[in-house]
Amino acid sequence: MIDSSFQNFLWFLRRPKMYPEMIRRLGRKIGSIFGLEREQRTSEARWRIKEKTRHWCALKAVDTETAILKITGKSPTVKFSEKFKDLIEEQQKLIESIPNRMGGQGNLEIIYQLAEYVRATRAIETGVSYGWSSLTLLLSLNEREGSQLVSTDLPYFSEHSESYVGCVVPDRLKSIWTILPYADREALIDALKILPQIDLCHYDSDKFYQGKMWAYPLLWQALKPGGIFIADDIDDDFAFRDFCEEIDRPPWIVETPFTNDIKYVGILVK
Ligand SMILES: C[S@@+](CC[C@H](N)C(=O)[O-])C[C@H]1O[C@@H](n2cnc3c(N)ncnc32)[C@H](O)[C@@H]1O
Repeated sequence: MIDSSFQNFLWFLRRPKMYPEMIRRLGRKIGSIFGLEREQRTSEARWRIKEKTRHWCALKAVDTETAILKITGKSPTVKFSEKFKDLIEEQQKLIESIPNRMGGQGNLEIIYQLAEYVRATRAIETGVSYGWSSLTLLLSLNEREGSQLVSTDLPYFSEHSESYVGCVVPDRLKSIWTILPYADREALIDALKILPQIDLCHYDSDKFYQGKMWAYPLLWQALKPGGIFIADDIDDDFAFRDFCEEIDRPPWIVETPFTNDIKYVGILVK
């Protein structure tokens, strides 16, 4: 335990861009040491919140096809999973061959069809991992001249994880892609300097309620009218529900198969 904390500390120490995140995490750690009992209760409470959130999502959720139809007014002529079947299979084999296990993918069908629907040329995503959502966005953006994707990603704390971030994205798509490899709190500010107005955003990084409630308004503000806001894993907590209430917009909630379970993706149209 002490070993892994110390290793994480050394990992951060070698990356000055991540010092602010290191200080934030240190603060959280110290807080949990001095309030251990409260922290345990908090983790139990977190599970109860997750149960309630999933219930809230389930009441409103539709499947992927229905969401696309309702939002775009038509069913896609070809599914993303069929159109790029060979590339997806090839890249799937690639990640099976690498040692590092990283975070799972968002709802790629939704991301692709909605990027096509708004004919996105400017997109920001938070959370890259292997790069499935990045690949999906880039395959759509690449069809339109002058397009740009800016992604933020705090890599996993292991020596080799950084070299695998975005590894499913082929070189031919990288000229329109910028990755900012540090925490959202700094990286999202920089991403919005590069793209102050966007057609679409995909949030899939910091999974804490506070992190989401900090980032969602910034992304929403940058979206053009008619732009698409997609948030992954909205069933972890009530951040997405609270944000929808704050801006007074009705969301679409999409039930998404995920390993042997389901998860929920939230969508807002500005
Ligand atoms: C679930 S994965 C992203 C999956 C990706 N969107 C896809 O569809 O393939 C989440 C990623 O967000 C990163 N992350 C976690 N906390 C972050 C933070 N505070 N700022 C930026 N990135 C963060 C993780 O390291 C991880 O690479």
